[in-house]
Amino acid sequence: MNETHLVTIDRHIIDEERRFPDARGAFSNILTDMALAAKVISREVNMAGLLDIVGQAGHRNVQGEQVQKLDVFAQNVIYRAMDHNGHLACMASEEVEDIIPIPEKFPTGDYVLVFDPLDGSSNIDVNVSIGTIFGLYRKVSGQARGTLEDCLQSGVRQIAAGYVVYGSSTMMVYTAGAGVHGFTLDPSIGEFILSHPDIRVPEAEITLYSTNEAYYHRWTPGVRAFVDGLRTREDCSARYVGSLVTDVHRTLLRGGIFFYPRDSRSPDGKLRLVYEANPLAMIMEQAGGRASHGAGRVLELTPTSLHQRTPLFIGSARLVEEVEACLAGES
Ligand code: AHG
Ligand code: MN
Ligand code: MN
Repeated sequence: MNETHLVTIDRHIIDEERRFPDARGAFSNILTDMALAAKVISREVNMAGLLDIVGQAGHRNVQGEQVQKLDVFAQNVIYRAMDHNGHLACMASEEVEDIIPIPEKFPTGDYVLVFDPLDGSSNIDVNVSIGTIFGLYRKVSGQARGTLEDCLQSGVRQIAAGYVVYGSSTMMVYTAGAGVHGFTLDPSIGEFILSHPDIRVPEAEITLYSTNEAYYHRWTPGVRAFVDGLRTREDCSARYVGSLVTDVHRTLLRGGIFFYPRDSRSPDGKLRLVYEANPLAMIMEQAGGRASHGAGRVLELTPTSLHQRTPLFIGSARLVEEVEACLAGES
């Protein structure tokens, strides 16, 4: 007889919340609303090719990058799932320059949500996996509607983090500080079902590295030396999708290292600290891995602006330590 229990994400989140004695349902409601938004975005991502909604929306986001229609759609879905639940003081997103206030007509709460609504957007119109990333903090400002200070907390203060990958199936992975759990969307019943309980980054049998190696000549000597060293190993192989969520998801399940270092064109790297690096760093650490900016934990950085970038080296602890050793003295 099959002894496996069916656990929905909603049930799992409620069970997690019991670990916080003073929690009153807010935390579980926020995560449940994120799961709802993920289902709506997943449906649209799956339909994108059919509905012809892919393509450039004709304007650029605050980083000056081309915004595509699904980015805007995902932004709106998450905002509309979250603005009226009464649990958030404010939000911040890759797609919006300043903090996102909760409309005056709705009540506010004690939490702050930061997110990248659609990550890997250059892969949308070639049918390659993309994702959503989010982090959750408790408000610190004492202001009902939150302030920038609430969104610029260091990553160690995250109380939950997660991502969704829209791949061959849609998966939502989250941590609330007690391990990392993965759920696969069963589209026939519209539920995320627990499929990957207590994920641990494996010490890979092969050394798998994931980076945009076309930038080799722009890297610092330490990063080049690290990759040169990896390539001399018999067991070494490479994978690079170009969607951060997807590359980190594979690294979480298979082991290895993903990195996007600083380089001569991007002196701070490309990835954003607040809503890309920090949530994924919390997940990787909770799974037994590490996440570094090259000279220490990403989670210990203190953000000074919403859209600031950071170099990121993330994956199995041993490889992240190796790259830090190669970079010692560079920054
Ligand atoms: P976004 O689509 O949210 O702007 O993020 C893009 C990112 C990230 O997903 C990926 O790791 C990286 O850009 C790839 O950059 P390169 O094309 O320079 O390799
Ligand atoms: Mn992104
Ligand atoms: Mn994005």
